[in-house]
Amino acid sequence: MPSALDIRLAQLAEEVKVDVLTKTQDLDNAAKIEEVSRAFMSDTITVPTKEMNAYAMRASLGDDVYFEPSTAALEAHIAQLTGKEAGLFLPSGTMSNQIALRTHLEQPPYSVVCDARSHIYRMEAGGAAFHSGANSIPIIPENDHHLTLEDIEPRVVSGTDVHVAPTRIIALENTLNGTIIPQEDVMAISEYAHSHDILMHLDGARIWHVAAETGLSMKELCDPFDSVSLCLSKGLGAPIGTCLVGSKKFITKARWFRKLFGGGMRQTGFLVGAAAYALTNNFPLLPRVHSLAKRMQQGLEELGVGILSPAETCMLFYDPAPIGVEYWEIVERASQLQNPIKINGSRLVTHIQTSPQAVEDFLGLVRTLKEEKAASGWTVADMRPQKKSVFRDVYVKAVKPTK
Ligand SMILES: Cc1ncc(COP(=O)(O)O)c(C=O)c1O
Repeated sequence: MPSALDIRLAQLAEEVKVDVLTKTQDLDNAAKIEEVSRAFMSDTITVPTKEMNAYAMRASLGDDVYFEPSTAALEAHIAQLTGKEAGLFLPSGTMSNQIALRTHLEQPPYSVVCDARSHIYRMEAGGAAFHSGANSIPIIPENDHHLTLEDIEPRVVSGTDVHVAPTRIIALENTLNGTIIPQEDVMAISEYAHSHDILMHLDGARIWHVAAETGLSMKELCDPFDSVSLCLSKGLGAPIGTCLVGSKKFITKARWFRKLFGGGMRQTGFLVGAAAYALTNNFPLLPRVHSLAKRMQQGLEELGVGILSPAETCMLFYDPAPIGVEYWEIVERASQLQNPIKINGSRLVTHIQTSPQAVEDFLGLVRTLKEEKAASGWTVADMRPQKKSVFRDVYVKAVKPTK
């Protein structure tokens, strides 16, 4: 005879239990894989494959706040690969960048010099001010491509005047908008920084792409920096994770801040397993990813479409105004194709699961729209005026005008 408590527990168990799988989960997942292969919004959308999951599930089972063997192995590997003493696995690139700043910045007042277009400045919810109380000094690169020492030197704050917040960090991003900073410029900035007691941080969310495109080693690319944040969930295609690398002292403190930020995770083995699979199997795919972006640029240029930022790695930014087409028209028509394509605005990103056919279909659609505009009597004289953002940013959203 069940007790009243047994009956109550059975009721509670009914309330608590949940099945998150849909009735057609396997079909939904197959559809998602197809959708991702035809989506150009980001490289964060790649999906874990059966092979990745199978490898990941064999990873160790420790609790990472204490010690997690597979996680420690990945941290040590990325540290060694980048020529640093230690590494720390984190849930996101944002947390990694923010913890790096917080760990480096010890005693205010201070400022962080960065590119005005950088993720650290524009896309991390004002984190440098919130978490570290830091003043950011955003700089627009004179060459519209990458920061140089000539851009940075006049903006660095130094001295003991009580009115100022001395610069403690120069934070670079490579790639930024998919473009590569020439290594000579990185080195010149680093030599200047280190001779002025300024630390160098790299948001290397996509530094893998620089290695794949230039042939420079990860160590060469990371040597000029005191800390580097490397994302595993972008171009490499892992579902989650970023590794922050630096000196042992820096990483020991960063681990402390990770706990403080609420980022101390538990059984991370399978996440790290997926990341290790991505390093081994997906890094070699990056040249193919870059060639798809370059093919896209070439096709768009042939059609007379403007290129706002070139496909140096896995992304490009385009402007269809020179053929009389608006972004929203492309987005709308792409979504109406028999086999739809997903895009947002000016940014086009290719990734390890991009289908070459999707690239050709996208170019075919732009060609069709161009022909339709020409047939309706549109000429270059009708081209809408070009606006440049104050940041000389190349991101433009597709917004359908409301009448
Ligand atoms: C250059 C760069 N840095 C950092 C991040 C932040 O990564 P996450 O989305 O994992 O926080 C992103 C995200 O796309 C990024 O593009």
